[in-house]
Amino acid sequence: MREIKFPEGFIWGAATSSYQIEGAWNEDGKGESVWDAICHTTSKIRNGDTGDIACDHYHRYKEDVQLMKEMNLQAYRFSVSWPRIFPKGKGKINSKGVEFYDNLINELIANDIEPFVTLYHWDLPLEFNKLGAWESREVVDAFADYARFMFDHYGDRVKKWITFNEPMVFAVWFYFLGLYGEGDIAAGFRATHLVNVAHAKAIEAYRDSDNPDGLIGTTLNLDSVYPKTDTSLDKEGAIILDGLLNRWFLDPIFKAEYPSDTLALLEKYFDFPSIPDEDLQLLKDNPLDFLGINNYTCNRVILRKPIKKTADFYKILLPKKPEKGVEVCDMGREVCPDGLYDLLKQVDRDYDHPLIYITENGIACKDENIVDKVVQDDDRLSYLQRYFEAANRAVNKGVNLKGYFVWSLFDNFEWTEGYSKRFGIIRVDYETQERMWKKSSLWYQDVIAKNGFDFQS
Ligand code: FCB
Repeated sequence: MREIKFPEGFIWGAATSSYQIEGAWNEDGKGESVWDAICHTTSKIRNGDTGDIACDHYHRYKEDVQLMKEMNLQAYRFSVSWPRIFPKGKGKINSKGVEFYDNLINELIANDIEPFVTLYHWDLPLEFNKLGAWESREVVDAFADYARFMFDHYGDRVKKWITFNEPMVFAVWFYFLGLYGEGDIAAGFRATHLVNVAHAKAIEAYRDSDNPDGLIGTTLNLDSVYPKTDTSLDKEGAIILDGLLNRWFLDPIFKAEYPSDTLALLEKYFDFPSIPDEDLQLLKDNPLDFLGINNYTCNRVILRKPIKKTADFYKILLPKKPEKGVEVCDMGREVCPDGLYDLLKQVDRDYDHPLIYITENGIACKDENIVDKVVQDDDRLSYLQRYFEAANRAVNKGVNLKGYFVWSLFDNFEWTEGYSKRFGIIRVDYETQERMWKKSSLWYQDVIAKNGFDFQS
């Protein structure tokens, strides 16, 4: 048993996102989002589930904040539904939607819980799909206007802002899965550049807003990438995949450039237009204050032959199942706490020691065993212990990590998996909307109180 202590002032929180928990999809003047449309009009979601009701947080936010309070949470990361504020994406504001977030933010602050607000966690106003979503500069400008409104209206109370959640997922993967209609990986990669432009424009708007005295950053999903073996091909493969998954997203926001090896690869296999200098200048002029990292797993690369054609490129990019015998979560992904440690060190080393928050980390578990109204999620508890320990090791090595948000506060709508995967530290019964503690949330309550825990390695 070893005592793990975090530095004073370390922030402990939990995270959610609007579409995954709010429900009230068409109430009080909210406009439709692409996710409303995906759920209502495609067959891409497991069991035909939708976020129409989800955790009904829109109506239950007060009791949910009380739950956070009881858990000792110091911060809560949530996202704003853009079409709740601007039903058509731009133009007319929906005052009822504005009021909902006013109430939520005020309730959090009254309970000493700091809001970390994500502007975009994937629920794009549906109207913008017609314009080509993130392939359109009109959408970029509308995002900047939406961001400006948010900073001016809520910025007196919100001091931590996150522009985007996981561009790799909502651009590249969702294009690949065809969730927005036609789409492919190349279009997804092209879209990531405009997302970066939108991010820079939002930062520009923040610095120029009525309340520029907080911190603004973005959230990337990043994974450590390892060669499966020591062969030079696997090592080369790891560099390529690290470029596609990590550096492609980190370099533009920290260095205002794209990694040349990855860019060359994309240009070789796809139609990839050259990037205007003024876009890079905009990124350079608008650096962020912190990086949010979402981390769940790690990648191990096998490259059997050098990349020669588009099919080889896809092969390296698409996720592979871990080998038999490897510990995995209910999503089939490897449990890999050392991957988090290595990732934090890599970002710290390569991007000049940035301020970091882990904005998501957690695990889907079956959660089948309930005793005395407490879910016996020992697997989640063990996962969190090992990941917290890895984060602690990185902090002790000087990484500027200042906070940790567990994904997720509640079981919720897990995108294409619907309600079939449970990530929450609080269980939600979707029939009754009853919230139930799990062993992991009871433990987390104690970790926060002590700013540490006893670790059994
Ligand atoms: C991340 C998403 C989040 C949730 C978790 C499990 O990729 O940001 O909304 O779905 O995965």
